[in-house]
Amino acid sequence: MIYPIVKYGQRVLETPAEPIAEFNGNLEKLVADMFETLYAANGVGLAATQIGIGKRLCVIDITSGQDPKAKLVLANPVIVTTEGRQMQDEGCLSLPDFRAQTARPARATVRAQDLTGKEFEMTGEGLLARAFCHETDHLNGVLFINHLSRLKRESIKRKVKKLIKAGDW
Ligand code: NI
Repeated sequence: MIYPIVKYGQRVLETPAEPIAEFNGNLEKLVADMFETLYAANGVGLAATQIGIGKRLCVIDITSGQDPKAKLVLANPVIVTTEGRQMQDEGCLSLPDFRAQTARPARATVRAQDLTGKEFEMTGEGLLARAFCHETDHLNGVLFINHLSRLKRESIKRKVKKLIKAGDW
């Protein structure tokens, strides 16, 4: 099932999500639906909060469906270490058509649980490090625009307000 993606302005996106406590068939179904939603939107990562579910769960595939081995499920993810800095264009499915140069660590290690509840750690570089940070942020109610300068962030917020007013958001 493809979920509608919640856009910036909805409270769920800026509210810290609740931990995943049960690893069962419902979670598997939710993860399958999240991948379906992610691929339909041509994204590389999706957090549960972006489909209106306040749970600490995200899916990542930096190949956007090209490589089945690239599929990652992170339940209750925490960034444990970071290293270096990268500055690249970043966007978010909840802020369609807005992209901005966003600073992130060059390398990030995430600790999370898989679909069975088993804990693991994984280190990513480049785009994967960026995705780990971006999606984990989502679960803490933080969006990429929070990492931009105030000026840039306010400019995006103003444009979104205009779009909302015009009924185009
Ligand atoms: Ni996002």
